[in-house]
Amino acid sequence: MIRVFPRISDSKVMELFRKGVEGQWSAALIDWEHPIHLDHHERQAFARVLTPVYLGEQTAMVGASSVIPQFFAAHHTEAQLYLATFLLDEARHFETLTRFYHKIDRRPLEVRDLKEIFRYQARLFKSRDRLEWLWGILISDILARHFYGTLVKAHPDSLFAQIGSRILLDEARHLAFAELYLKDALARQPQLGSKFLVMRDDLLWLMHTIYAALREDARVVGIDGSRLFAAVCDDIEKKVRRLRLAEPLEDEPA
Ligand SMILES: [Fe+2]
Ligand SMILES: [Fe+2]
Repeated sequence: MIRVFPRISDSKVMELFRKGVEGQWSAALIDWEHPIHLDHHERQAFARVLTPVYLGEQTAMVGASSVIPQFFAAHHTEAQLYLATFLLDEARHFETLTRFYHKIDRRPLEVRDLKEIFRYQARLFKSRDRLEWLWGILISDILARHFYGTLVKAHPDSLFAQIGSRILLDEARHLAFAELYLKDALARQPQLGSKFLVMRDDLLWLMHTIYAALREDARVVGIDGSRLFAAVCDDIEKKVRRLRLAEPLEDEPA
């Protein structure tokens, strides 16, 4: 049932929506003439290592567009508004990274090299359920945050550092929303916890497989895979604890 005049509460989600609106920026704000500071070898490695995240930006945008109607149907107007900003964030990340590829005159990996990356994206949207999708996005954004953060630190004063540090601000909002919304949803449906843990394991395994194939390129651009994954796993486990995903349900035997 469509509500013409829905009640919009002054919740934390609305705060994130307003922050999202006010935090919008455009690729035109990047100084595209800023030195790239990457040699030929590094450009090639960058183009390859960036591919999974680049595709992730596009699928996050498309995923948001397909779950917004679910939030609408559930009369979660605040979340629906927030996701409109999320969608534009991901669209902008996609556009900015596309321009970066042109700037360094390189292409992402080709489709034949992307099997595991496609499997990752398919897993993210397997159930077509907004809560599972959001949990997968939370996990992906944790990886994105460490990935961009490491590259920004490894290449300060570079064009990519400018891009990455802007994207990182958006990702912080994405993480905040996912945790906030899921906390509420899981309080009402704690039985989702076990599904989420299976999804965490699947996504982590696919992430490892993807980066194992890109290990050498990752090293060239300054990413230490084991350090990156240790930080990612640590953050995911913090979320698991905060969302109480691993706690047994009340009617389960201890
Ligand atoms: Fe993004
Ligand atoms: Fe994101």
